[in-house]
Amino acid sequence: MPLPGVVEEIRQRSLGRINRYPDMRGWELVERLAALDGVEPENVVLGCGSSEVITQLVSLVAGPGDEIVYPWRSFEAYPIIVAGAGATSVQVPNRPDGSHDIDGIIGALNEHTRLVILNNPNNPTATSLSDADARRVMEAVPSDVLVLFDEAYFQFNTDPDASVALDLFREYPNIVVAHTFSKAYGLAGLRVGYAVAPADVIEGMRKVSLPFAVSDVAQRAALASLDVSQELEGRVKLIIGERDRVVAALRSQGWQFAEPYANFFWLPLGESTDAAAAAFVEAGLSVRVFGGEGIRITIGEPEANDMVIEVCRQLKERGL
Ligand SMILES: Cc1ncc(COP(=O)(O)O)c(C=O)c1O
Repeated sequence: MPLPGVVEEIRQRSLGRINRYPDMRGWELVERLAALDGVEPENVVLGCGSSEVITQLVSLVAGPGDEIVYPWRSFEAYPIIVAGAGATSVQVPNRPDGSHDIDGIIGALNEHTRLVILNNPNNPTATSLSDADARRVMEAVPSDVLVLFDEAYFQFNTDPDASVALDLFREYPNIVVAHTFSKAYGLAGLRVGYAVAPADVIEGMRKVSLPFAVSDVAQRAALASLDVSQELEGRVKLIIGERDRVVAALRSQGWQFAEPYANFFWLPLGESTDAAAAAFVEAGLSVRVFGGEGIRITIGEPEANDMVIEVCRQLKERGL
């Protein structure tokens, strides 16, 4: 759901202008985001969702013969975007708890590496990346290789040890941060995200960006969302509260899984995944199934969360 007032704002200020092209660079939003994140407008580029800014970055830095290192399993678009640029994916399997294998990521670096992607919290395993682990990666990566911190769900990350990419951006010269209005802000259908990066990287990303990709409606909705940041905080708090309630209920049923730090959690079901998935479908719940690996369950309304708890109880009863 968009935040309150956002739909009305679009209706009043944007719908009457859809015969016109949007501001190509989205300066008003760029300036607002730069002020919010404590960087210069030259450090910000918009995209048609953070998917587009990730695509801009990958096509800027990598081509045939180049390697991009990232954890796996992670956001499903990474391999597609890397393949689209003609580059090679180097997927580093997560640790058994679903978190990034930092030694593995560092071990995968070589002279062909052009980019490292870190996803915090990780989709779909909901694990958090600690500041210490992020710094280990930054110390190992040569300064002419970029590191992308994809923080699509950062508003939900309550881990006190979590890395904060915007803080690291001020310390290291080779960091790109991707944020989006799709998740906590509830604007997935409008497609607006952005990156914070060194000015020369942003300049390159703008050159490879899709012209006019971010519509005026999307820019207005993003600006209106930033106007109601208190509502965002309230919504995020509610979701985190529900997440903690569901996790506590499942733990008391005997489920073991890593602490989730996103607006979803991950049940590592391995071979039982398909059987468990059938139970969720039967209950009318929509969950994301990764055959043979596990299920990602998004925190929803309290009634839906209650149903999740009940299905999990039944699964435990069946010995899964
Ligand atoms: C980790 C991660 N990054 C980025 C995205 C892209 O989101 P969008 O393109 O809507 O900003 C997603 C969407 O699911 C995601 O899970």
